[in-house]
Amino acid sequence: MSQSQINSLNQKASSLTELDDLFEFLLNQDLGSIAFSTSLGQEDQVITHHIARHKLPIEIFTLDTGRLFQETYDVLDITQRKFKTPINVFAPNTNEVEALVEKKGPNSFYDSVENRKECCNIRKIEPLKRALAGKDVWITGLRHSQSQNRAALDFFSYDYTFNIIKFNPLLRWSLEDVTKYLEQYKVPENKLHAKGYVSIGCAPCTRAIEPDEDIRAGRWWWETSKKECGLHNIKS
Ligand code: ADX
Ligand code: SF4
Repeated sequence: MSQSQINSLNQKASSLTELDDLFEFLLNQDLGSIAFSTSLGQEDQVITHHIARHKLPIEIFTLDTGRLFQETYDVLDITQRKFKTPINVFAPNTNEVEALVEKKGPNSFYDSVENRKECCNIRKIEPLKRALAGKDVWITGLRHSQSQNRAALDFFSYDYTFNIIKFNPLLRWSLEDVTKYLEQYKVPENKLHAKGYVSIGCAPCTRAIEPDEDIRAGRWWWETSKKECGLHNIKS
């Protein structure tokens, strides 16, 4: 898809404020097969609920890195049961995980940014490539106010890493909008949110944050880098 087609999609989508309208707009574009990646976080629970409630023709999948919190697996379990909607699970390649842990140990990500990216590549990026294979549109729960890096994102973009159209329907939502929605529809949430965790990834790479800290400060907190794992090719 050309940049001018992406620009045109963004121009039309920018006047839409309701989630219903944004999804209707997306589905009316006839862009091909659509997949939504859920981390089981708060934003993603909104989108999963919306897709399940309206029975939208969108495949939902999650990347099970093998290092998630038990509380995150609990959200996966209860969401599958409550919404009766399939959530496809993509796990890392066993051989690659075995080789990594044998060679560098189970905690190599703390040693260097390079090691951390290696682990993210094996446990997230490679499975994501498989999950997105044959898909035309990738939906995520990225929001502008999650970080400075994400403030300039558009509803639609073309992701040249995964060669796919990316769509971020919650872009303009605040965290408060998200929590209000979850409360209104009684959507299951990760119990860790009540313990100071906001953005939740793998257990060894996520900590709770203080009220005055940046939403993503608890991710890879020992690093000073821009705190993106390679899933989202976001320029800083
Ligand atoms: S991350 O790149 O730092 O891990 P973040 O946790 O903010 O991303 O989530 C942003 C979006 O990335 C989510 O809304 C979701 O679409 C996708 N995502 C992140 N982690 C996963 C995961 N484990 N499985 C599926 N999608 C994920
Ligand atoms: Fe590995 Fe941490 Fe990345 Fe998870 S977040 S894949 S444990 S480095």
